[in-house]
Formats: sequence, C-alpha cells, structure tokens
Amino acid sequence: MSTDQPGLKMRLGLEMRRMAAQHRRLRTLYAALCDVLGGRDDDVPLADAFSRYEEALHAHFSMEERMAFPAMHGLRPDLGPDLEALVREHGRVCDDLVALGRSIEEGGNDLMPKLEAIAAFLDRHEAREEGLVAKVEIPEA
Ligand SMILES: [Fe+2]
Ligand SMILES: [Fe+2]
Repeated sequence: MSTDQPGLKMRLGLEMRRMAAQHRRLRTLYAALCDVLGGRDDDVPLADAFSRYEEALHAHFSMEERMAFPAMHGLRPDLGPDLEALVREHGRVCDDLVALGRSIEEGGNDLMPKLEAIAAFLDRHEAREEGLVAKVEIPEA
C-alpha cells in the first residue's frame, strides 16, 4: 500500500471507528427488537422498534457506501470487488427488511425466524467487512 496518503489514512481511521461503533449500536437495537418481538418488552410498539432498527441499518449502509468503502478503496484499490459485493449485500438486506416490515404490518406469526435470518446474514456481512478493514493499514490513533 502507498504510504503517501496521510489525509486518506486519517479519514479511514475515523471511518473505521465510526463503523465499529455503529455495528455495536445495531446489535443493541437488534436485541431491543428481539425483546419486543419475544414479548419481554411490552412498552415499545413493535412497529417502532422495527423502524428504529431499519432506519439505523439504512444510515449505517449509507455511511459505509459514502465514506468508509471509498476510503478503503482509495488505499486498497484491489479490494474493489469485495467492496462491491458488500454493497450488493446491503441491497439484499434492505429488500429483506421491506419484506419483514410488510409481515409485521400484516401481523405475521413467523417474524422471529425472518428477523434471525437477517441478523445471521448481517453477522457474516460484518465479519467480512471487519476482515477487509484489517487488510487496510490504519494509522495509530
Ligand atoms: Fe455493510
Ligand atoms: Fe457494517
């Protein structure tokens, strides 16, 4: 990797920290949604818990596609195909969320397996993301 791009490397460091923080936040929102769906939290309407999770995911995907992935690509152009695959997966998750939202509106009774399938896919997605981050040299904080 080229070492003459200190501005890009610093930006990438910031984006990577933001990405990790958002992954943690998404896990918290997922747990909250599971609590509502599983009947352990009656205080929050299911539609609200779902909207919070869906909106946070959309914001996260947008941040990655506008900021983190371009910074990673700038330092490691060879990661392009892997980053493009991650963007395609964002589209798949968004489609699955739309379908889950529709099931929630219709009062479907198989919501938890659908949510768990999305979460399992996202776990693998995030692990691959974090694996790519590890391939990019991050400057000392
Ligand atoms: Fe992602
Ligand atoms: Fe992510």
